[in-house]
Amino acid sequence: MSDTSVPLDRAKAAKPMPKPGIMDIHAYVPGKAQADGVENPIKLSANENVLGSSPMARAAFVGAADEMQVYPDSRTSILRDAIATRFRLEPERLIFGCGSDEVFALLNQAFLEPGDNIVQGEFAFAAFAIGAHACQAQVKVAKEPNYRIDVDEMLKAVDDRTRLMFLANPGNPTGTWIPFSEVLRLHAALPPSVVLVLDGAYSEFATDPAFQDGLDFARGTDNVVVTHTFSKLHGLAALRVGWGYAPADIVAAVDRIRLPFNTSIAGQRAAVAALADEDFQTRSIEHVDQWRSWLSQQLGGLGLEVVGPSATNFVLVGFPSAPGRTAGDADAYLSAQGLLTRRVLNYGLPNHLRITIGLEEHNRAVVDALSAFLAR
Ligand SMILES: Cc1ncc(COP(=O)(O)O)c(C=O)c1O
Repeated sequence: MSDTSVPLDRAKAAKPMPKPGIMDIHAYVPGKAQADGVENPIKLSANENVLGSSPMARAAFVGAADEMQVYPDSRTSILRDAIATRFRLEPERLIFGCGSDEVFALLNQAFLEPGDNIVQGEFAFAAFAIGAHACQAQVKVAKEPNYRIDVDEMLKAVDDRTRLMFLANPGNPTGTWIPFSEVLRLHAALPPSVVLVLDGAYSEFATDPAFQDGLDFARGTDNVVVTHTFSKLHGLAALRVGWGYAPADIVAAVDRIRLPFNTSIAGQRAAVAALADEDFQTRSIEHVDQWRSWLSQQLGGLGLEVVGPSATNFVLVGFPSAPGRTAGDADAYLSAQGLLTRRVLNYGLPNHLRITIGLEEHNRAVVDALSAFLAR
């Protein structure tokens, strides 16, 4: 990052200049959706729900078509009430956003001033740092040995200027997770002035009994925010609906700065319907569970490093550094066959690909293609 302490006379500049640090931000790189010369490629690059979305959510979305001229309910009341009931939460402690991404951005805006910092793991989801840098804050990065969050490393990174700590559990792009006992240990050692954000974007896919998303624990704290999204399990990524459960004082701060209509009518209605469709949720979780084991086993059998075990709807796979067999080569090979995976160079992982768990035929196609790739 550029040195934000050097005042730049932007008033005298020959053209408008963004504030210091903005142009040093690496913009978010979304998963590829197209491959040259391939029609209808299979997108395994953005961890979307390969089963689609709930038919009930679809009907609710279509039903909203006659109300496009109306502003949405700024309080997101129908979804607020549905989530509060389902998870037994106080409705007024909920924050809604244009995806959980917006909830992170709002927390950063509300808590960071220039020179403050956030703490995150070295492979943390990119949106945390983008939001912090936009506030001219620093990002302190904790080592993740074996691609896993290490509570002691996270705590070591905390200093007097730390205002937020972001922990995606399970993580993206690693897919790994830490038991809730470790989250509790982290929280106990954290200064009470630091907001601990537990990002549960993939939490529904983490089925080990030692895992918890933290909602129950957050209820009794003044500094824990738990976030969730409708983009993954519920397959509503296009509608951009995320939410956070936060202490009342944090909600009060965020509500002062959020855009008034940050979730759409269609998004609110579809999310309420999706939440009620437990059959679709169960099928999605079972599908991921079954094919995640299969894919991990098969890729491991090809001699590739499968990071994990993954507790998400994707796997992170390590490739050799030998020319012709690298992650970049594999990505190009798979792309040419219409199989789109995600390179994770921007996460400091040049030798890995992140692959969403697909439908059965997708998973088999990935294994067949990588088997042929390695045999060349
Ligand atoms: C770890 C993690 N958190 C949060 C999100 C944000 O999801 P959304 O903004 O769609 O709610 C993602 C999206 O990929 C993610 O991987």
